[in-house]
Amino acid sequence: MKPIKVGLLGLGTVGSGTFNVLKRNQEEIMRRAGRAIEITMVAVRNVERAKDIVKGEVEIVTDGNLVVNHPDIDIVIELIGGNDIAKDLVLKAIANGKHVVTANKALIAKHGNEVFKAAQDKGVMVAFEAAVAGGIPIIKALREGLTANRIQWIAGIINGTTNFILSEMRDKGLDFATVLKQAQALGYAEADPTFDIEGIDAAHKLTIMASIAFGIPTQFDKAYIEGITKLEATDIEYAEQLGYRIKLLGITKRSEAGIELRVHPTLIPEKRLIANVEGAMNAVLVQGDAVGATLYYGKGAGSEPTASSVIADVVDITRLATADPEHRVPYLAFQPNALSDLTVLPISEVFTSYYLRMRVEDKPGVLADVTKILASFSISIDAMLQKEPGEGESRTDIIMLTHQTQEKNVDAAIAQIEALASVTGSVTKLRLEELS
Ligand code: HSE
Repeated sequence: MKPIKVGLLGLGTVGSGTFNVLKRNQEEIMRRAGRAIEITMVAVRNVERAKDIVKGEVEIVTDGNLVVNHPDIDIVIELIGGNDIAKDLVLKAIANGKHVVTANKALIAKHGNEVFKAAQDKGVMVAFEAAVAGGIPIIKALREGLTANRIQWIAGIINGTTNFILSEMRDKGLDFATVLKQAQALGYAEADPTFDIEGIDAAHKLTIMASIAFGIPTQFDKAYIEGITKLEATDIEYAEQLGYRIKLLGITKRSEAGIELRVHPTLIPEKRLIANVEGAMNAVLVQGDAVGATLYYGKGAGSEPTASSVIADVVDITRLATADPEHRVPYLAFQPNALSDLTVLPISEVFTSYYLRMRVEDKPGVLADVTKILASFSISIDAMLQKEPGEGESRTDIIMLTHQTQEKNVDAAIAQIEALASVTGSVTKLRLEELS
């Protein structure tokens, strides 16, 4: 069979990994794909850097349009990222009847519905394994491996930068700003670290997983997103004393009322495997009704780990290129005409447990006032920690863990607690998941 021809848009970290792994493992990949896979053209910004990588073996251009309009190219691999140029080139490639492989989580999370519709109309495939959790084949697992299950929830550490920062803060007692600089120097953080530390990158990935798990259109704009920038070292320490670790989790759950879609720092029991995922590693925990809990762990970023996912998609497409489009795996696992309109719930409707830290006067009746307010909102306390005031201080910290309750109840209770004369400043609220 004649080789399948590939065009690359972008030859940065993931692009060069893709080029190198395809070349290194070409024989084995060909035995798996049934055809040779050849890179025909790469479009890059930095030609000199690209020359060093491709060493005269592939034509280098600076205009991505030459790749998406190339008559011989069957598959376009988009590794530019972002929404503007990348989206335009992906839609042009589809319009030209080319299959697309992309690592672009923002594109799929925000414009997935439009991209999939265009691809469906043209009968081409769009594959995006590398968009979520780098080298971990989580899309494949959710879309195919777990297809028998009614997925109940997913909880993932899906941003390596923030996991690295939280691990270092906990291990070495360093502050947030110092560790962020280290993460940038190590190349973990996105070009704009805001996307990592504010939880946006994780929300892109979570949005994609939720769509596949529950068969809903991608709805990034409905995700609740809270990053780690306001997280204080004190809370990491108190959480540890109570037997919990704080992780930036992407959580999506199906409930009677709808779908929860939320990214925020979360306390999880330290005995859970996922609580022990440290440094820049990623892990995704999926609960299905038939299989129970399954955990996927690995590198969520990096040149060759991400290339591993990109190439897996290229091989999938190569195998299925001649299949009738109706018989291919649907983009979001569910048939396009069988997607559901389940509501994505606002954060106020979410049910979870909470960690509350408040600074109070150490005098009789203060605790009674606080617990009375919690009881009036039917909020039950699961655990409590009170420190002795420091030398010469009359105020101290009280930390409470609650049982499950609804977010709007907790917010209303916090407003009343903060209004008490014996409570200083604001109450710190973090969410807690038992993940059992
Ligand atoms: N910046 C991302 C992370 C990697 O830290 O996990 C690419 O998604």
